[in-house]
Amino acid sequence: MSRVTISDLAAMKKRGEKWAMLTSYEQMSASIFDEAGIPVLLVGDSAGNNFFGEENTIPVTVDDLIPLTRAVVNSTERAMVVADFPFGSYESGPEAALQTGIRFFKEAKAQAVKLEGGSRSIPQIRKLIESGIPVMGHLGLTPQSVHALGGFKVQGRGEDAARIKSEAQALQEAGVFALVLELVPTELAAQISKELTIPVIGIGAGNGCDAQVLVWTDLMGLTAAPPKLAKAYRNLRAEMLAATKEWAGDVASGEFPGPEQSFN
Ligand code: KIV
Repeated sequence: MSRVTISDLAAMKKRGEKWAMLTSYEQMSASIFDEAGIPVLLVGDSAGNNFFGEENTIPVTVDDLIPLTRAVVNSTERAMVVADFPFGSYESGPEAALQTGIRFFKEAKAQAVKLEGGSRSIPQIRKLIESGIPVMGHLGLTPQSVHALGGFKVQGRGEDAARIKSEAQALQEAGVFALVLELVPTELAAQISKELTIPVIGIGAGNGCDAQVLVWTDLMGLTAAPPKLAKAYRNLRAEMLAATKEWAGDVASGEFPGPEQSFN
């Protein structure tokens, strides 16, 4: 089975077909999402607060994300796997970005990468693309800049809308194959999605985008305190808590293991 390509995503935009992207950080969720037909899986630096137990994404490193990305690639057949550039792995310039891209391609077998920022990231984006590494952009609330932005706040309200629009155009001109818009007003995200020829993937950006992305633990109700932008479609936290207590109780009472789990 061949994997989804950037041309497939461009064709979906042309056909007006909406699609879903999920984060994934390991084998089990990745294989389920692939089987469900999710076309793009992002090994996000949100692994910081959803896998590594950090407060935010800032402490995450390339060395942290390489084995997670390789696990997701190894466990999928169809999805395009996008590796997220963590904070500190590309800001210093195009050469740093290229070295990070090469590591994700050679050591983790990713098919594309994502990095945050508008004009400040364009030299890095150009270098990656001319070296054969497709790039997804990310504007709006860029979590690696949370301290500079003064918290997890909606971006692009009022006069700031024009800045985000022009950054989005600039990223498209630089050659990104898709753009994540995070925490921006619905109307602004819809306008940008209409104006750009590349797919725009929203998260907390309303329903006028070409695609949507969620952190998978939010979707499944595993996250203890999910953000407002997410909707939990199941309550896996409650399910897992109940199963864990049930099993521990059976161990305590001597009911587990039973004859079915035992050997002569
Ligand atoms: O790291 C991440 O999970 C992300 C998505 C929320 C877009 O960047």
